[in-house]
Amino acid sequence: EKEGYDHFMIKEINEQATAVRNTLTQRENIENIIKDFDDITRICFVACGTSYHASLTGKYLIESLAGIPTDVILASEFKFSQKTLNENTLVIFISQSGETADSLKALDVANETSKTLGIVNVAGSSITRRAQYVIQTQAGPEIGVAATKTYVSQLTAIYLFAALMAKDENLLNELNNVPDFIDEVLKDVESIKSMSKRYNYAKDFFYLGRGYSYPTALEGALKLKEISYIHGEGYAAGELKHGPLALIDEGIPVVVVIPPGDSHKKTMSNLEEVKSRGARVLAFGAADDEELALKAPEVFKINPEVSEIIAPLVYIVPLQLLSYYITIEKGFDPDKPRNLAKCVTVE
Ligand code: M6R
Repeated sequence: EKEGYDHFMIKEINEQATAVRNTLTQRENIENIIKDFDDITRICFVACGTSYHASLTGKYLIESLAGIPTDVILASEFKFSQKTLNENTLVIFISQSGETADSLKALDVANETSKTLGIVNVAGSSITRRAQYVIQTQAGPEIGVAATKTYVSQLTAIYLFAALMAKDENLLNELNNVPDFIDEVLKDVESIKSMSKRYNYAKDFFYLGRGYSYPTALEGALKLKEISYIHGEGYAAGELKHGPLALIDEGIPVVVVIPPGDSHKKTMSNLEEVKSRGARVLAFGAADDEELALKAPEVFKINPEVSEIIAPLVYIVPLQLLSYYITIEKGFDPDKPRNLAKCVTVE
């Protein structure tokens, strides 16, 4: 079933353009669903792990495009927010499996007061049966424990949802380019392989991103720790000087997610901060970014047309590849990380 690939994870990473393309077909379904959401004044996302990172991106999109106050709550911490829900709240549950115990428990509670929407990959799963509305992501079955193609599919559904809520035709059009952008990244796998050979010695990694790229930094770090067992810490670039900068010293790899756009300038100054303290910077930015080429010793180059707003859908791909190849270098099985299960059915 691995169809010639060494592992499910790399097969699934390579299926991401298709996963996005297939999930874009949900547009009409989402248009129909949101007709019922005219009275919604607040949105809460509830999720765990990678699905939580997709939700964070959703908050940024919905608040900035549609102006609807949006919270993101870890399913395991949901009970504290219970009393804040009412009939004008939409609670969105994001889950690959549709069976995560913490999310299911929160869903039962939210159903008592609020509208509930599940964004789920596994058809017929518990969340699809219990949520009032469902958007089915179209990633196909995901076998690797590390979520990859389901993450970009969740993001695709969220982008469609936010863009349709905000009636943002430009963004809707831009989304159609994402599958090609992803395939372009996948063509440059050799650069990531050689990077992984140079960095697999590390005990700790930092991942920095700002704005839309902040959840990408968190997700990149989660992928690293989950399968390579290297400590990876994702941070909002602006938070660095509020503590973790103290940890930056000679030789520590710092991944900087720096697409072109509004936050570029500030992220660049964070890049310089860590570089001047001896960090080994691995930048992920636009191919035509001359300033970046000058300032970062190592740059993975991405199509300059990938704007800051759609960067989360594309920039995560080289970070998944980096974690995968570092794990291979270290001799671990990326499909079956220790202590972890694909589906977490206990609270
Ligand atoms: O099935 P779910 O999306 O509800 O699962 C949530 C998390 O357990 C999951 O995303 C986990 O963090 C992944 N293994 C990360 O790669």
